[in-house]
Amino acid sequence: MFSKALATAGLLAGLAINAAAAANAVPTIEAVGAKFFYSNGTQYFIKGIAYQLTEADPLVNTKQCQLDAASMQILGANAIRVYHVDPAGDHTGCMSAFAAAGIYLFVDLETFNTAIDPRNTSWNQTQFDAYAKVMDAFHTFDNTAGFFIGNEVIALNNQSLAAPYVKAAARDLKAYRDSKGYRKIPVGYSAADIAELRPMLQNYLACGSNASEAIDMFGLNAYEWCGNNNMLTSGYNTLNQFATGYNIPIFFSETGCNTVQPRTFDDQSAIFGPEMNGIWSGAIIYEWIEETNNYGLISYGPSVAATVVATNVVAGISRTGTPIPVTPDYANLQSQWATLTPTGIASSAYSPSLSPPACPTSTAGGWLVQGDVKLPSIGQTLSTDASGAVVTGTPTSTGAQSTSTKKSGSNGSKEITGMSVGLVGVMLGFMYWL
Ligand SMILES: *[C@@H]1O[C@H](CO)[C@@H](O)[C@H](O)[C@H]1NC(C)=O
Ligand SMILES: *[C@@H]1O[C@H](CO)[C@@H](O)[C@H](O)[C@H]1NC(C)=O
Ligand SMILES: *[C@@H]1O[C@H](CO)[C@@H](O)[C@H](O)[C@H]1NC(C)=O
Ligand SMILES: *[C@@H]1O[C@H](CO)[C@@H](O)[C@H](O)[C@H]1NC(C)=O
Ligand SMILES: *[C@@H]1O[C@H](CO)[C@@H](O)[C@H](O)[C@H]1NC(C)=O
Ligand SMILES: *[C@@H]1O[C@H](CO)[C@@H](O)[C@H](O)[C@H]1NC(C)=O
Repeated sequence: MFSKALATAGLLAGLAINAAAAANAVPTIEAVGAKFFYSNGTQYFIKGIAYQLTEADPLVNTKQCQLDAASMQILGANAIRVYHVDPAGDHTGCMSAFAAAGIYLFVDLETFNTAIDPRNTSWNQTQFDAYAKVMDAFHTFDNTAGFFIGNEVIALNNQSLAAPYVKAAARDLKAYRDSKGYRKIPVGYSAADIAELRPMLQNYLACGSNASEAIDMFGLNAYEWCGNNNMLTSGYNTLNQFATGYNIPIFFSETGCNTVQPRTFDDQSAIFGPEMNGIWSGAIIYEWIEETNNYGLISYGPSVAATVVATNVVAGISRTGTPIPVTPDYANLQSQWATLTPTGIASSAYSPSLSPPACPTSTAGGWLVQGDVKLPSIGQTLSTDASGAVVTGTPTSTGAQSTSTKKSGSNGSKEITGMSVGLVGVMLGFMYWL
């Protein structure tokens, strides 16, 4: 839920040239089997916050990061998720500030300009080079916990043909990581919650006999649990069922439905509780800064008219300053997380025998990728046969019309189910950093 709508209004990030030095020494995070572990052997459960104060890169303003890291530590967070960064920026100060607070980074490698476009699907050298630069810039930091190859690339139920391109991108960035001798920072994907593609998408990205061609972790952006729900009424039972036996870490890369106000974050007690904590690796709450979409946990002061031109104000929202908790949401999340500290399992006691899931078969009008298809190589664009199931070859376009998704909707049915173009038009009006 991070949209292009504000793409023209971004702040200018300071472009400091930097040879990123290693941040504070903290234990690194690694993926083993279906779980994350600190390098000291303790299991790591993500308590994360989506953090994108400015479009280009929120990790270049050290003072701001220090203020936010301090507040996040009080909140009980141990991770941030950042959607876009500028690899040319100096991230040393921000990464140190977060490391000092015990906060790890999950960062997307793409930007709006380099993301895989399901309407015109490519995986090309320009994209690869851009993703590799972000990896170069962030692998040095001990508190970099994971890289996303994309966020909601597949945003509609008819866009599954883009999946081999996502998988090809993961393959190539993993190979790049290993060829450079970088730490084995997990490379994964953050998926929109599309009911018709469950569990095929998560299974496809992890499937196959060659782990070098599969993702290392899977994030689901799910807004199914709103207000006073439970495992059954929220739909989490279904998510749990699909995630059981999954061979790589799976977690909520966005959550925090806000259709019932105030947000009580009751779903956290499920995610970190006995029904889910043996299967899931935690959750990232959408989002830190309060914007017009009302998902914020803090603000930097009252909003102003969207037309106001002022320093560090974009779209009527102040984007720097001392974080002021949104009441009572911030406190609600803080008290949820304070009681939720699963121990998990020690890495020394964990010896999983998990196999990758089977590659799903295609069905007309459903999941469109047939089995373990040969992945595209760099430079290939999408081509389909008459059945719509073959995915390598010559340039064509898939013709699907929208990449937008939603967080709105009625209680208990937050999946995206192929929304109409009309609705997309309405939504773009209020989506900023979604
Ligand atoms: C490992 O490091 C984490 C994060 O610093 C800490 O919470 C945990 O207690 C440590 N575990 C051990 C066994 O030292
Ligand atoms: C590579 O992909 C990007 C993102 O889809 C696109 O903007 C760009 O035009 C492509 N480059 C080439 C050379 O096709
Ligand atoms: C698809 O990408 C190509 C190459 O970047 C571009 O020329 C073409 O206009 C794009 N088509 C659509 C529908 O965006
Ligand atoms: C596994 O995939 C990688 C990346 O595509 C490839 O280089 C390697 O040869 C494959 N290994 C096997 C055994 O097919
Ligand atoms: C959400 O849905 C469940 C099941 O239908 C219902 O019991 C609950 O009251 C609903 N909550 C709200 C806030 O509408
Ligand atoms: C995909 O679904 C969207 C929304 O229902 C629709 O507008 C679009 O035409 C569909 N594209 C294809 C290729 O079927």
